Amino acid sequence: QGTESHLYYHLLNGLTLFAACELGVFDFLLASERPMSAAQVAAGLGTDVDGMERLLSACAGLELLGTQAAGGEVLYSNTDMSRMYLSRSSPRSLFHSVEYYSKTVYLCWNYLTDAVREGKNQYEKAFGLPSEDLFEALYRSDDEMIKFMQLMNSTWNVCGRDVMTAFDLSPFKTIYDLGGCSGALAKQCVRAYPQSSVTIFDLPKVVSTCREHFVSPTDERIFFHEGITSFPPNGNLGHHWVPYGPKGGAGAASSASVKRCNGTTN
Ligand SMILES: *[C@@H]1O[C@H](CO)[C@@H](O)[C@H](O)[C@H]1NC(C)=O
Ligand SMILES: *[C@@H]1O[C@H](CO)[C@@H](O)[C@H](O)[C@H]1NC(C)=O
Repeated sequence: QGTESHLYYHLLNGLTLFAACELGVFDFLLASERPMSAAQVAAGLGTDVDGMERLLSACAGLELLGTQAAGGEVLYSNTDMSRMYLSRSSPRSLFHSVEYYSKTVYLCWNYLTDAVREGKNQYEKAFGLPSEDLFEALYRSDDEMIKFMQLMNSTWNVCGRDVMTAFDLSPFKTIYDLGGCSGALAKQCVRAYPQSSVTIFDLPKVVSTCREHFVSPTDERIFFHEGITSFPPNGNLGHHWVPYGPKGGAGAASSASVKRCNGTTN
């Protein structure tokens, strides 16, 4: 059909990916170490056989799984791409990103029409949360905070190196990461520039969670600063992407900080 139908079928592609990740299809196929039939996957994951057959077949259509025929059955296996990015245990896993998109972002996008009408985020409709302070909503519990930090962790783990090396930052020895969150970008930075050290600025509760779960004392040359309103002088400023925060939120806070320290950093 026309381009229009392709556009809305993309939505279904995303949901297929979410379901396969959430049900653990890619992990199951990784652990099984050989191609499996839909019935075997369904038995292993405790799902309906027909439902699993349809899901696996859709995943194969999206090239998320490979297929082979054996004795009148179709057997499914991971592709290199799904093994690398979709299985939970891969060092480049995007599992947590997929999960966050499925459980949080997707629900907000359901209200895109209202967001455009009203000019504000839709946490209130999606989650019954006040939407004025986005980061209050994102960090509404320790559990939610960790999920958001895992999203950042997996994203930067995959593309952080490209971002950090897009420009030569080697002349800068002291780098500040405003809203450094899980520290994944800071890790990529000190890895790419062995002469540099990075100080992560973030909310006190984010800093303590980061220290507890994400950055260990063995990650040398990564330091922390609680809060993003006070600034040590004489450093170079790295202002990284702050998602979902066009108004208010850490994006605005860090632009304010950039302005405040503009005179002192160069
Ligand atoms: C952060 O990402 C790395 C690399 O994928 C992973 O090994 C680590 O377990 C992740 N940390 C958390 C707390 O999820
Ligand atoms: C920083 O200062 C320079 C030079 O005065 C100016 O051009 C630039 O817009 C300022 N940046 C910000 C974010 O305020």
